[in-house]
Formats: sequence, structure tokens, C-alpha cells
Amino acid sequence: MRSEHPTTTVLQSREQGSAAGATAVAHPNIALIKYWGKRDERLILPCTTSLSMTLDVFPTTTEVRLDPAAEHDTAALNGEVATGETLRRISAFLSLVREVAGSDQRAVVDTRNTVPTGAGLASSASGFAALAVAAAAAYGLELDDRGLSRLARRGSGSASRSIFGGFAVWHAGPDGTATEADLGSYAEPVPAADLDPALVIAVVNAGPKPVSSREAMRRTVDTSPLYRPWADSSKDDLDEMRSALLRGDLEAVGEIAERNALGMHATMLAARPAVRYLSPATVTVLDSVLQLRKDGVLAYATMDAGPNVKVLCRRADAERVADVVRAAASGGQVLVAGPGDGARLLSEGA
Ligand code: PMV
Repeated sequence: MRSEHPTTTVLQSREQGSAAGATAVAHPNIALIKYWGKRDERLILPCTTSLSMTLDVFPTTTEVRLDPAAEHDTAALNGEVATGETLRRISAFLSLVREVAGSDQRAVVDTRNTVPTGAGLASSASGFAALAVAAAAAYGLELDDRGLSRLARRGSGSASRSIFGGFAVWHAGPDGTATEADLGSYAEPVPAADLDPALVIAVVNAGPKPVSSREAMRRTVDTSPLYRPWADSSKDDLDEMRSALLRGDLEAVGEIAERNALGMHATMLAARPAVRYLSPATVTVLDSVLQLRKDGVLAYATMDAGPNVKVLCRRADAERVADVVRAAASGGQVLVAGPGDGARLLSEGA
């Protein structure tokens, strides 16, 4: 059966039916050109195109098992039963998959995150990428990577990029009908020369966000006088980023990533009321990154919807950068990540 639902226009159900169960793994990604702002909240269509690096740390492994006897979806995260908003988002995502697959079978979801508890790193990108791959297989949808990326996008925008390893660009997609826009908004790998990069992740605060990224994006787009200028300049940043990646210019990659992230935070600071994720500890780490550069070390920072800092550097400098950042992060956890693989199916079948 073919659904009329936009996201799924190119998707097909397998004739032999569902696989009854599947397990998939995916890694988080960190945006070097940020996604900040939706132009369609239901379809999760972004205002701007973003670009990221998938990490080789903290995989999420998710099993989706169809249960013909169940009346509701159930989910466990690291062995704990999911409830409330978490369960609602997972179930809404599964409903989308069911709609395409022409199935009414409920599922049992078992997710394991290896992000250290309370590390304050978003797991929605790896979480929805793993869920998309596992659920598509369990419900018998045959999707190529582009289709999986579109599907993952409906769970969490940044998850569209975790379908791919290394560097990935998520296209904002064209304006036009919902179907046209939806079909054009997917991620794909970005050609890059050999850069040998590392991201040093400084966890300065592991607590929950003061404002959800969904609410913060909405408020920024609706009220920040800096939003449009940032969104426009982000297009130039993207073009420059693509050519820096192609020529293997890690210095330029870092410079563009840092200004794009600082610009994103500036848009939020100018929102009414302001959204401020950066804390004094963030600024202390940013100062240490500046000092590293003064000392001749390639190091550039990026921050997401929280106070934690990710420092892009050469792999060969990663331990030195980690030591400096660790001293600045005073007690915060510091980890070194490299480029990782895209989402993949681990097993399939009853
Ligand atoms: O995909 P979401 O809703 O978790 O939003 C992610 C937004 C940022 O992490 C701040 C930027 C990005 O592009 O990942």
C-alpha cells in the first residue's frame, strides 16, 4: 500500500510484509553549520541548510519489535520504561511509519544510549536515526538512505544527518507544496578531503536545558531581529564551509563553524524574551580556546542548545587541547571524538 503522506511519497512497503523486529545503531552528530529554526513544525522543515560531523562515540542501539497483541506502543530507555513526552514522541514517530507501511501493529522499543548519564549531550539525533532505521526494517519499509534521512528528520531534525557518517549536509529543501518541500529536505554526505579532525567535548553542565530547543527555535524565529541576518549569512557560511572541506582546510572549517555557532547564539540572545544557553563556564572554556589559538594550536569552538563546548582541532593536537580545556572546564567531563559511521541495521527478523 502506498501512502499519500508527503514524507513517504518515495517509500514502499515490502510485498512479503514486515520483518517483525529489527535492531539498529546510530551515532550523534555535531553541526558545524547550525540548524536553528523551522519553517514547518509538523514536517520539521528547517529555515536553513545545515552541515555536521557524525561522531565515533556514544552510539544509540535501538530494537523495534512488533507486538500483534499490544494495544499501545511501549518503550524503554536504558531499561527504564518511557512515559509522558518521551513516549508520545516515539509513538507519534511509529504512527508515521505505520501509516506508510499500512500496518496497525504496535511496537515494543528498547533503546540503549551509551552517553554517560547526565553528560548533557543531546541524544535525539542518534536516537531518532537508530529508531528510523530499526522501525523501517521492522515494518518492512524499503527505504534508501535518503528516504531514511527524511524519515529520521520527522523524529528530530538533526537526526536526518546521523543517517550518514563523516560530514553530512541537511538540505532545507525548496519552498512549494508540502510534498515538494518534504521530498527536498534530506541529508546526504558531503565531499571532503582528508582532514583528520577531532572534536574535544567539554561538558560544563550536565543539567537539563532551561528552554527546549523546539521552544527556543520558535521564539527566535518569531521575535529575534537578528534571526533573518543570521539565516542569510548562514547560506554564505555553508558555501564557504563546503569549499573548505573540499580543499581540506581545517583552519577555515573551524573559523566558519565558530562564527556560525556564535551567530546562532546571538540570534537567541536577541529573542524576546532572550534565550541564553551559554554559562560563565562556557565563556571560560571559550577563553581557553582563544588562548590555544594564540599559542599556535588550531582550535575552534561550537555550542548547541546548552552550555557545553565542542572544540574542533587536529587529531594530533586532541590530547593537548583536551588538557587545556579540561583545566578550564574545572571539573567538567572532557572527551575526545572523531568522525564516525552512519546509522546501520544490526539485525533483522523475528
Ligand atoms: O534536532 P533538534 O531539534 O535536537 O535541534 C538541534 C539544534 C542544534 O543542535 C542546536 C543545532 C544542530 O544543527 O544540531
